[in-house]
Amino acid sequence: MAKFLASLLFCSLTCSSAWSADPDWWRTAVIYEIYPRSFADTNNDGIGDLNGITEHLDYLKDLGVDGIWITPFYPSPQVDFGYDISDYKAIDPQYGTMADFDRLVAEANKRGIKIINDMVMNHTSDLHPWFIESKSSRKNPKADWYIWQNGDAKGHPPNNWQSIFGHSAWQWSEPRKQYYYHAFYREQPDLNFRNPAVRKAMYDIIRFWLDKGVAGFRLDAVPSLFEDPQLKDNPYFDGTDAYGERNVARAYTDNLPEVHDVLRELRRVTNEYPGSVLIGETYLPNAIELAKMYGKNRDELHLPMDMQVGFINKLSVPDFRQKLLEAETELNGNTPLFAFDNHDNIRAVDRYGDGAHNAEIQRLLATILLTPKSAALLYYGEELGMVTNTPTKVEDVRDPIGRIGWPREKGRDGERTPMQWNNDTNAGFGGTGTPWLPVGENYKTVNAATESKDPDSLLNYYKKLIKLRKENEQLREGDFILANDASTRVLSYLRVTKNGHAVVVALNFTATPQVANIDLASRGVKGRHAKTLIESFSGVDTVDLGHIALAPFGAYVGQVEP
Ligand code: GLC
Ligand code: CA
Repeated sequence: MAKFLASLLFCSLTCSSAWSADPDWWRTAVIYEIYPRSFADTNNDGIGDLNGITEHLDYLKDLGVDGIWITPFYPSPQVDFGYDISDYKAIDPQYGTMADFDRLVAEANKRGIKIINDMVMNHTSDLHPWFIESKSSRKNPKADWYIWQNGDAKGHPPNNWQSIFGHSAWQWSEPRKQYYYHAFYREQPDLNFRNPAVRKAMYDIIRFWLDKGVAGFRLDAVPSLFEDPQLKDNPYFDGTDAYGERNVARAYTDNLPEVHDVLRELRRVTNEYPGSVLIGETYLPNAIELAKMYGKNRDELHLPMDMQVGFINKLSVPDFRQKLLEAETELNGNTPLFAFDNHDNIRAVDRYGDGAHNAEIQRLLATILLTPKSAALLYYGEELGMVTNTPTKVEDVRDPIGRIGWPREKGRDGERTPMQWNNDTNAGFGGTGTPWLPVGENYKTVNAATESKDPDSLLNYYKKLIKLRKENEQLREGDFILANDASTRVLSYLRVTKNGHAVVVALNFTATPQVANIDLASRGVKGRHAKTLIESFSGVDTVDLGHIALAPFGAYVGQVEP
């Protein structure tokens, strides 16, 4: 508690907004994901670094983000570009020094921006000293820190478990004459979370970074923490995966109930640091499973990611109605965290775009991300309209899954290309040499410098939306209510506060003009007209709610006039 008061005092002196002192700041937050390798390079080695983030904090402040989640920058052999950690309490020299990190936190805090670290608990690098010790013999102090098993009677892997990144999840280790389990690459052995010493080691790491002033963690691969101790085979289903293996459902390797014990323990650790947040990477099958991640007594994750809404992957009004409604009503009053983009998936514009109206569709998606009652995650470059730059030749692929799975799985390089800052050399990413991945072809026009000068750019659309979301009481606090409109062409909803004031959102999901008819009375709201707050196409200052004319893929946000 003393720590919290100290940070409040610190904040009242240095933070730019009083709002920052709110311990529940994350409920309405806009969080910006940075893949540090690809954000900005300040020492001309083709790899982004922490100083590159610090240099661009004013851009992020101007965009209006409340926090940045930085994917792993700890020492790592970089097999999975940082998700294979070999030291949890240091900085990889590729990305800078601890002094650089401290400066980043201080400079971000000055601007009212919080830093969220990525925390990979499920596995370490195979070059982490824990694993080196663990694999050295069957009897050493860390012998039980990972998931070790004998082979079957014929010496084959113990069961049919598959790695998410292709082929058997079991890797033979000669010194122990045993297999170890890896949910991801074989260079990422899974830790044994049934071992209390492992849990304690992780919680110590969490405290180390919280003591350094980070505001929380994005927890990697949450559902993967536990596996069935009886090693039951996973069930098969039809077809093969990208790696040519029979498909398996991850029934005995993912989302086991024990995960929740760890999440509750973690929450208790972060409770020692009021105002800190736990975000979870929670790919789950539905809202019911997602709801569990908050804990019955709100004692697990503050913000497990909702991957249902952002990854519908087609502009279907019924699907969006259903998924948005579930997120807003089935999470026991908890806040959903929506995301359309991240470093593991083809960029949203390439999943939702039709090729002909991508600019309009990007604005439509931005509006869905930022106007429901939710926290929002943005991925670097999403606000500019960066697209996926998938490699065309296997020789160019850097992400190992793209080589293992080529051509069905081309890896994740496409969504990790350098941030497009301006139309100079390397799009202003830094340096004159070759960046670790090629710059996207559209950088001459799709870049921060050009777009910030254009009032109609996507960047300025995001800025306006984020500002509005902060300033408008209905968008901040109002309940989310689907509008009573059965149309399958227009998605519409309201944000209504207790005083009856409402904001209306109407989104045309088609390539032709549509007219939305919003019936407020059936939703207990008074009013016939709305004053335009934001729209993605040029239109009018006020609209008749029975008759909102929407351009193809147009987005409209208006304040209902009571
Ligand atoms: C998560 C990360 C992904 C990584 C994997 C293994 O899914 O987002 O990038 O490869 O975990 O750590
Ligand atoms: Ca660099």
